[in-house]
Amino acid sequence: RAEARTFEEIQKDGKIIVATEGAFPPFNFFKGPKLTGFEVDLAEALVAKMKLQLEWRALSFDALLAGLRQDRWDMVIASFAITPERSKAVTFTSPHYCSGGVIVAKDPAIRTAKDLAGKVVAVQTGTTYLENVAKLPGVKEVKNFPKDTDARSALVAGRVDAWVTDKFVAKSALEAAPEAGLKIGDFVFVEKIATAVKKGNASVAQAIDKALAELMADGTYEVISKKYMGEDI
Ligand code: ARG
Repeated sequence: RAEARTFEEIQKDGKIIVATEGAFPPFNFFKGPKLTGFEVDLAEALVAKMKLQLEWRALSFDALLAGLRQDRWDMVIASFAITPERSKAVTFTSPHYCSGGVIVAKDPAIRTAKDLAGKVVAVQTGTTYLENVAKLPGVKEVKNFPKDTDARSALVAGRVDAWVTDKFVAKSALEAAPEAGLKIGDFVFVEKIATAVKKGNASVAQAIDKALAELMADGTYEVISKKYMGEDI
């Protein structure tokens, strides 16, 4: 079909298809065979508010927004920041969290954007981390990884000097493996994260916004946030 399903059409079907990546803990990741994380629980709560069933798809990060354009799924939740570039291609809902890219390194002397001069920095392909680190003057090399978890592994293995990733992803990586000796430095930039629907699909975006406002008002958002982040983000 050539057009995205409207909210009314999805309601008639009873089932919404939601795509994520599944490799960005604590937001979306696999625990064994089970998709879990802050955004997975949040999407399930959003869909319950919309009185629909949810069918998950897990795909590589770079396939997610393209699939909206091809009507392969109705909604994407994978920590996508709202950017002017992406806003030309998809429609974003209201943000479900605010965060930003932080510097992670083993060397405690690498803390600020200035300290990245002359250094090799690992980032996930297609992310705002790549875009923003590429703009910094003096960075020796930006190494791209299809998965953020591989960018993290490169740092742990000592193949790069730093990793730029989401603040909460960094915190969760440090908690999961304190022995790796990673340290969190400054923000390189801040951003607002939202779910995305097909460009112009206003009825679905509005239904998501309404459900999100309800989850924030009734305390569900806070419960899910504390479960994965230990705080209300
Ligand atoms: N917030 C960053 C961006 O908007 C990174 C998102 C990465 N998400 C993921 N599921 N790996 O580009």
